[in-house]
Amino acid sequence: MYKIVSIPGDGIGPEVVAGALAVMRQVTKKHGFEIQVEEHPFGGASYDLHGSMLTDETLNACRECDAVLLGAVGGPKWENLPHEHKPEAALLKIRRELGLFANLRPAKVYDALVDASSLKADVVRGTDFMVFRELTGGIYFGEPRGYDETKGWNTMAYEKHEVERIARLAFEAAQKRGAKRVMSIDKANVLEVSQFWRNEVHRVHRDFPDVELADMYVDNAAMQIVRNPKQFDVIVTGNLFGDILSDIAGMITGSLGMLPSASIGRIHALYEPIHGSAPDIAGRNIANPIATIASVAMMFEHSFCMQDIANEIHAAIEAALADGLRTADIAAPGEKTVSTTEMTEGILRHLGA
Ligand code: NAD
Ligand code: IPM
Ligand code: MN
Repeated sequence: MYKIVSIPGDGIGPEVVAGALAVMRQVTKKHGFEIQVEEHPFGGASYDLHGSMLTDETLNACRECDAVLLGAVGGPKWENLPHEHKPEAALLKIRRELGLFANLRPAKVYDALVDASSLKADVVRGTDFMVFRELTGGIYFGEPRGYDETKGWNTMAYEKHEVERIARLAFEAAQKRGAKRVMSIDKANVLEVSQFWRNEVHRVHRDFPDVELADMYVDNAAMQIVRNPKQFDVIVTGNLFGDILSDIAGMITGSLGMLPSASIGRIHALYEPIHGSAPDIAGRNIANPIATIASVAMMFEHSFCMQDIANEIHAAIEAALADGLRTADIAAPGEKTVSTTEMTEGILRHLGA
């Protein structure tokens, strides 16, 4: 029996995770097996309970389970804590401790939502690319780091093995996709670390002659993603650039509330929507649960190798959208909206509930 650790976290985290767990329970019931779910506090919620954003107990539970489901962390209540005590630092710690070096962020446009994007329907229709964001290195983790009264500093550095392993994953994924194209995104015209990144990606590419590789500067990439998102197939990039570019990709799909992700390493895996705790809408049952529900689909695909169940979940999401269900973030002006729980129920209905 599979064992999942659920860490709902802060803000809308618990609301969207509840929807995702309901979907998980429904598909396991339908297919006649069980997944054990153990909930642990994390982030601000954990700090308020235990005085620590990430307790050893939560971290050990994450180490011992088959997959982790995370909502989101952070919020105004904790943003003035010293840097190393912020909820966001705990998120970086969990990623690093679990060795989750690759963050897979698919940006796929659902036909029913082409009009929800702030971009023209013709530009976004058919978009389907996958960002491979390096997650445990780069400027997020580089030393030295800090600030004093006169300056602030961070360090962007990549080691050979860090670039090699994410590049390899990206090329392997491209091999399995139709287009077999990888775009490596960097800032090699200015940053030495990026020149190193580029050289390493090209070195690894020699093992994948059937995949086409091209490079793009990150500033141009940000523009190209909104100009013509369909030109991309697989994107591989560093931690900070991947963070920014995947939020941009969010608007192609209509809302940040649509984008799931899988954070994977050699041993562990954690599934999380790309959005944050959305304090502006938390506690009102209006958040879009689809990003987190689709993250569960990624869990079935990557951690349990149950592609059929992943497909069923995606199909149920699509069917609920085709029924016209819209949370506020993906509704057209004046269109009727549904709550988080109503959207979840709409998806569950297409899974036989
Ligand atoms: P955010 O992603 O929380 O919200 C940005 C905007 O998108 C807000 O207007 C929000 O209402 C909307 N939004 C996000 N998810 C939505 C959903 N599921 N349904 C409907 N609307 C949604 O980013 P932010 O406001 O910059 O950050 C808020 C807090 O979340 C900060 O503390 C930040 O550090 C944290 N954060 C955490 C994670 C994470 O835990 N993985 C990711 C990003 C931000
Ligand atoms: C994300 C978030 C995090 C990141 C923050 C909250 C640490 O923005 O998961 O995209 O920058 O990685
Ligand atoms: Mn982000």
